[in-house]
Amino acid sequence: MKITFLGHATIHLEIGDSKIIIDPFISGNELASHIDVNTIAVDYILLTHGHQDHVLDVETIAKNNPDALLISNYEIVQWFAEKGINGHPMNHGGKHRLEFGTLKYVNAIHSSVLPDGTYGGNPGGFVINTSSKNIYIAGDTALTMDMKLVPLGSPPLDMCILPIGDNFTMGYEDAAIASDFVQCNTVMGCHYDTFPPITLDMEAAVSHFKSKGKELLLLEIGESIDL
Ligand code: NI
Ligand code: MN
Repeated sequence: MKITFLGHATIHLEIGDSKIIIDPFISGNELASHIDVNTIAVDYILLTHGHQDHVLDVETIAKNNPDALLISNYEIVQWFAEKGINGHPMNHGGKHRLEFGTLKYVNAIHSSVLPDGTYGGNPGGFVINTSSKNIYIAGDTALTMDMKLVPLGSPPLDMCILPIGDNFTMGYEDAAIASDFVQCNTVMGCHYDTFPPITLDMEAAVSHFKSKGKELLLLEIGESIDL
């Protein structure tokens, strides 16, 4: 599995022949000005919730990738269906089998409204189980006891992608506790530095994780890792 950080909460995954983007917010992110949203190739677009900083580039990417399937909760998939985008709706606790593996939509504590004010359903995260690797993408969320359910329903996780920027989501201290709850000590941080209220003290965050025996990966925007 190849994981590429595209800034904010935008993650690109390559799993076998499948290319997946999660929460595309690139054209509105000054820090990601070197990423051209028009060059992004995907088979799937996964959305954790309806906020602008997670859905801004969906229409552009869907237009450039007309066969891509949008996957999110029912309300968000309906909203994009009215714009002609092909989707598969899910809801919390549900699993769906896809060519790259099994996708589960899990609980998050946050809010969710679409850019025009339409109700966006409840926000969520995703657990992806493949034949080789297992990852959890929390989406925007507070630390929640529901995270303890993730490892009960999944083979051991190889990585969790957690928001760490604080203010709108949990900060890095709670993210370290979240990594305990999901039983995964390899954490990739996201949702930091994009806006002034979520500026991260990177050194403090990395050393906090180290002090707990955990690893916090903070990728450059555009950087990839092979899991
Ligand atoms: Ni949000
Ligand atoms: Mn957000």
